[in-house]
Parts: sequence; C-alpha cells; structure tokens
Amino acid sequence: MSSLLYHHYPPTCVKEYDDPVNVRPKIAVDDNMKALSFKGFDIKPEKDFIESRKTLFVNNDLHIGLAAPEEFSKDYFYKNADADEMLFIHKGSGKLRTMYGNIDFKYGDYVIIPRGTIYQIDFNDKDNKILYVESFSPILTPERYRNYFGQHLEHSPFCERDFKIPKDLQTFDEKGDFKIQIKKRGIMYSYLYENHPFDVVGWDGFNYPYAISIFDFEPLTGRIHMPPPIHQQFEANNFVICSFVPRLYDYHPEAIPAPYHHSNVDADELLYYVDGDFMSRNNIQKGQITLHPGGIPHGPHPGAIERSVGQKETKELAVMIDPFKPVSITEEALKIEVDGYYKSWITDNK
Ligand SMILES: [Fe+2]
Repeated sequence: MSSLLYHHYPPTCVKEYDDPVNVRPKIAVDDNMKALSFKGFDIKPEKDFIESRKTLFVNNDLHIGLAAPEEFSKDYFYKNADADEMLFIHKGSGKLRTMYGNIDFKYGDYVIIPRGTIYQIDFNDKDNKILYVESFSPILTPERYRNYFGQHLEHSPFCERDFKIPKDLQTFDEKGDFKIQIKKRGIMYSYLYENHPFDVVGWDGFNYPYAISIFDFEPLTGRIHMPPPIHQQFEANNFVICSFVPRLYDYHPEAIPAPYHHSNVDADELLYYVDGDFMSRNNIQKGQITLHPGGIPHGPHPGAIERSVGQKETKELAVMIDPFKPVSITEEALKIEVDGYYKSWITDNK
C-alpha cells in the first residue's frame, strides 16, 4: 500500500541531527516456557508519551507493551520508521494528529498507524492507558474477510463503515525548528527540520492511519465451541490480534461454554483483559495480561468449567495477541509479574 502526499516544502530539509539514544528493551528472560501473568495497571503513569511506553514482550516480528502517558509533550513529533503501531485505548481519549489529518479516539479504539507516519497526540486528560504493538510487518485486516477487490465480505465481523479515517486536514505552512523523534531498530534519532511536518495540502492512496473500535466487532457465535480465529481482528507476519467481545455462549443444549484445555503448539497466547468478568480465569483484574507459552497446554482454572454450565452470555472484553514465534520477557515485564501464576491450576492454590 502507498500514498502520495503533497507538501508545501521538500520534506528533506534537515537542520540538525542529535546523538542517537538506545531505547532497546532489556531482555530478562530470553526463552520462556512458563505460564505468566502481569498486572498491566501497575505500569506507573509518566508525563510524556514516548517515555511512558514500556515494552514487555519481544520477538523479531513484534514488540508488545503498555503505556500510561499523562500527555504528549508538544515539543516534538514522533515517527516509527520500521514498525506499524497498534494503540489499543483502554483508558482515555483524544486526537491523533498526523500529516494525513486527525483521528479522534476513545476507549475501545484500536488506532493503527503505518510506519513512517509522523504524529502527535492530544490527550483529553491525564488518565490514559494504552496497550500497544509495534509490528515489523504491515498490520492488516485478515485476508479471508476480504474479496478480490479488497472489500470486506458480508460475513466479516466488521466492515468499511466501522473505520475512522483521518479528517480535518490542517496544513501548517511554517518554517522554524521542528523536532522529530524517529525510532528505528530500537534507536531513537532526534532530527531538527526546517519545515513543519504537517505542511501537506492533500494526499491520495491506501496507506494511512485509521481507528476501529472493539465495540464495532460483531461476534460470530455457534452451537458448539468456536475456535479462536473467529475472534480475529488483525493479522501481520507471524502474529494475529483477536477481539473477545460480549457475546452469546455456545447454545447447544448440552454445551459447556468454558473452552476445553488446549495445547497451543502454534503460538504463544497473550491475553489482555479489558473489562467484564473472565469466565475461564480466577483472580483476574482489568489491565492484567496472561501469557501462555506455546508447548504446554492451558485452559480453564479450577471451578471455571462448572461455573460456565448454564451460562447464556459473557460480558468479557479482551484483546488477544498470538505471536507465532515465542516472545522474550523484558525487565519491565518482570516488575509487574504476578507471583506463581504458573501454579494457578493446582486446586488448593485457587
Ligand atoms: Fe488459549
């Protein structure tokens, strides 16, 4: 996908270039084979957007992290040069400002920002919580949802009308000192440009940021247990993102709504709990993350299967990220780890 942007001035006028800063996540556990859980809301709020981002899990395909920014300091612009970004808004609202125009976002929105997009964010208040993914391949809607022409098929759980695309293009025909923080391969480069980066008078093409709400994901349900791909929201190279939304449970008269224990040999499974009650888990809070590594089975906690019998619907809201290659665990993640989660299926331990 590409777009053509029509600038007032050449986008090449670099005035200064500061020393690069290494912001690569520090790996604590390279090879993880334990079920782990993390308290995402324990990530401390920080004043600035970039500094607030804490990468928790990494592999060569993606980085996954959490951020609790109080604001986006207005003395710089930001560009991720080699990763598409997905910002899932768990708390807060605001306006994404880009050279393509602006996108208003709120609770429940996935904001997709293609690599190379220069942006700033106006947060409406200081209490913001964001789950983010940096993907080193394009983040796309699943191909099986689309027809030959790229249009979403009618059985897709969402369609074009759900996409919030950039609006209200503002053109800043200004010269001065404009700092752009550019992230590439875990290094932050600080560039000073002569022209305002939002000097675009118009653009066309298919590469642009957009947002889509998890609340616009229409769940697909069945008489018996539907497998996880039914929840798929996005795909990229070697990982998928799924939306678990309020829905009817399996409605066969003898269905047991709790999922069966399963051996995820194809992916690590990372679940981020957003809201509602989580039928298959005990002791889960909002913002909590579970990571079930590929290679060992996992499934409902003790009591969850019995609890589920006769239930008609779930209010759970969660985002699942399944990296097909194992993720390493960072030092930041260990700071918010829940002790002993891997033993939580032992009956005495609940
Ligand atoms: Fe699972």
